[in-house]
Amino acid sequence: MPSISNKGRQMPASPIRKLVPFAEAAKKRGVHVIHLNIGQPDIKTPKVALDAVRNHNIEVLEYSMTQGSEAYRKKIADYYAKQDISVSSEEIIVTTGGSEALSFAMGTIMDNDDEIIIPEPFYANYNGFATASGVKVKPIVSSIDDNFALPPISKFEELITPRTKAILICNPGNPTGYLYSKAEIEQLAELVKKHNLFLIADEVYREFAYDGREHYSILQLEGLEENAIVVDSVSKRYSMCGARIGCLISKNTEVIQTAMKFAQARLSPPTFAQIASEAALETPQEYFDNVITEYVARRDTLISELKKIDGVKVAVPQGAFYCVVELPIADADDFAQWLLENYELDGSTVMVAPAAGFYASPGLGKNQIRIAYVLEKEQLVKAVQILRSALKKYKD
Ligand SMILES: Cc1ncc(COP(=O)(O)O)c(C=O)c1O
Repeated sequence: MPSISNKGRQMPASPIRKLVPFAEAAKKRGVHVIHLNIGQPDIKTPKVALDAVRNHNIEVLEYSMTQGSEAYRKKIADYYAKQDISVSSEEIIVTTGGSEALSFAMGTIMDNDDEIIIPEPFYANYNGFATASGVKVKPIVSSIDDNFALPPISKFEELITPRTKAILICNPGNPTGYLYSKAEIEQLAELVKKHNLFLIADEVYREFAYDGREHYSILQLEGLEENAIVVDSVSKRYSMCGARIGCLISKNTEVIQTAMKFAQARLSPPTFAQIASEAALETPQEYFDNVITEYVARRDTLISELKKIDGVKVAVPQGAFYCVVELPIADADDFAQWLLENYELDGSTVMVAPAAGFYASPGLGKNQIRIAYVLEKEQLVKAVQILRSALKKYKD
């Protein structure tokens, strides 16, 4: 048989999706599975976005411009202006999800065996994008004990080698829920300038900042124009994960020109989804206010329920809609599978994401899970009840 590539062998399976066959088997047995494992919000997509697609009478569904339609990019620039971020439409490339923006970013600035420093735990697919690009992830551990705040800058400096090309942060963080402060962003900016590195910020959860905190973008920093690359997406902002639209932004013209060559190879981002995404920019502020109120209520319910379980440690999220939970067990992979294969309470069980896949350092996160609070409060309460009784039985 012809052999597949080493790269293919090394590609990590998604820790979020790898338990799917066990969940499907549980459903076939008639068990109701509460999904806490995946960041698919149950929030309705804004009507303006869906209507724009419904009411369009396209006769030829043609390719769009490689960098995305001009009208859409201009409106994206207007959206950033409202966030106190000054970018022009030429500094934006529309991509097929934030995912494609991440792979364009890596392809644009990194060669085989170059290194990227990422605070862990991090969005698990960063491992996948790095492997696909031949890039080495150098993780720097952040701790549940201080809510996953930015590790000391000295720890970053220890990891910098001649092969280091970039630092990647996710702000607010998936899976940590941590929102970097302006001071933390400024420290990172100093560091990348000092060592001539890129700073990539995945800001797909920008709107999801809680308790009066404000998101601070790396694009708001003066003097970082050559170093900063932002990855963005409509997936979570407008609950439009299936649209597959995101963008890559940089004021560094060489970065944009190079990323454009990757973009040309895949021709263009999806046309209908751009129409929906352009219309989504008209979403009234009230929509976001309601969504944030809903997520804060869900977070508060989830955290207070989790804190009732003996031996459980949880980082309180300040943004996004995930939290990392430390459980009084040794192997969360085994526990998550066991929940789906062997446990039910009144006909229901829960599916969680084992957190080890969100770390690059072997052995870390083995007793942690990630919970996405993308379900209604009643479901969250029920899910935590199941977790609590399951933990008792599992440990016996
Ligand atoms: C942190 C982060 N970045 C990027 C993505 C990719 O999003 P999409 O490709 O749907 O825009 C996700 C999706 O969950 C995410 O959580």
